[in-house]
Amino acid sequence: MNISITHATELKTKPTREEEASLGFGQRFSDHMFMMNYDNGEWHDARIVPYQRLSLDPACSVLHYAQEIFEGLKAYRTDDDRILMFRAKDNAQRLNDSARRLCMPEIDVDFNYEAMRKLVQLERDWVPHNPGTSLYLRPTMIGTEEALGVHAAKSYLYYIICAPSGAYYKAGLAPIRIRVEDKYVRAVRGGTGSAKTGGNYACSILAGAEAAKEGYSQVLWLDGEHLKYVQEVGAMNMMFLIDGKLITAPLQDTILPGITRRSVMTLAREMGIEVEERPLSVDELIAAGENGSLQEAFGTGTAAVVSPVGELAYRDKHIFIGDKSVNDGIGELTMKLYNTLTGLQWGRIEDTHGWVTDIDKD
Ligand code: PLP
Ligand code: COI
Repeated sequence: MNISITHATELKTKPTREEEASLGFGQRFSDHMFMMNYDNGEWHDARIVPYQRLSLDPACSVLHYAQEIFEGLKAYRTDDDRILMFRAKDNAQRLNDSARRLCMPEIDVDFNYEAMRKLVQLERDWVPHNPGTSLYLRPTMIGTEEALGVHAAKSYLYYIICAPSGAYYKAGLAPIRIRVEDKYVRAVRGGTGSAKTGGNYACSILAGAEAAKEGYSQVLWLDGEHLKYVQEVGAMNMMFLIDGKLITAPLQDTILPGITRRSVMTLAREMGIEVEERPLSVDELIAAGENGSLQEAFGTGTAAVVSPVGELAYRDKHIFIGDKSVNDGIGELTMKLYNTLTGLQWGRIEDTHGWVTDIDKD
């Protein structure tokens, strides 16, 4: 399918280098977006158009029954002004996994990559320059059928928007405080936890807001059945270095299969670290914190990159991780993984895994 391009007649003001230093996450949007529609069993009208508001019928399915899925990935500017994307086809693949769970139509992975590539090529001046900044892409699919029956919509809109972004957490690369959530749950076995769908985030907002009131950045979810096993955090997978082993929750259908998680596991193994995907109970985690064997904790995610965790609160217990007097409390492995991952993403370290694509070549 051909992708048509309609150029914006008026361009927005791009962030200055000074503004790039405090971009935050997902607050400004570029001049163009990709769109295509699905009707009668096929995708059609693939187009790049000026960034615009959507006109939706108030009865359309996404607004009532939340048939919505999305992705998140980034384009990075290298020191010599090439623009790279990181594992973009993996995001396209995961979008299809989410689509199947939500009874939504899949998109050919190569075509979806081409749509992202063409859009980023057009928006290349929006890819920021400052260290730690990137152009965040948000591919999104919504059900648009105008009908109130509960069933899979017959029509859909797929679009991709771009947001020049900096650090996800306000403090940048600095240890965050996380509260282990022991009242609300995010996902249960058989539910939609492993799909990237809006409902998983909507149901998590209350817990996040209550934790934020007490000064925590996010909550660490426990399994929905027993409130016993560590799952993930609102926007990232979690890893714990305990007794020299890197432990992360196994992928079940309650956890988002993070692309950063997968990359970091590979990098850690290449660094000679033993990585275990296994159920980790909150009791084991707290005990490791109390007996000193919990050496490091960090989250992984596209927006969050590798985010050190400096405090875990569970009920009346507070576990402090890392020594604030050394590297601002960021653990050695956390820092090494952050540097290696971002080194690959910004094209400073040679990519031997085939993870990085150059939007002008690949
Ligand atoms: N878990 C959740 C709930 C997320 O929203 C994200 C972010 O995308 C992640 C984990 C990390 O996934 P990825 O590394 O693919 O960005
Ligand atoms: C991402 O890291 O891309 C995400 O989707 C996290 C988001 C929920 C802020």
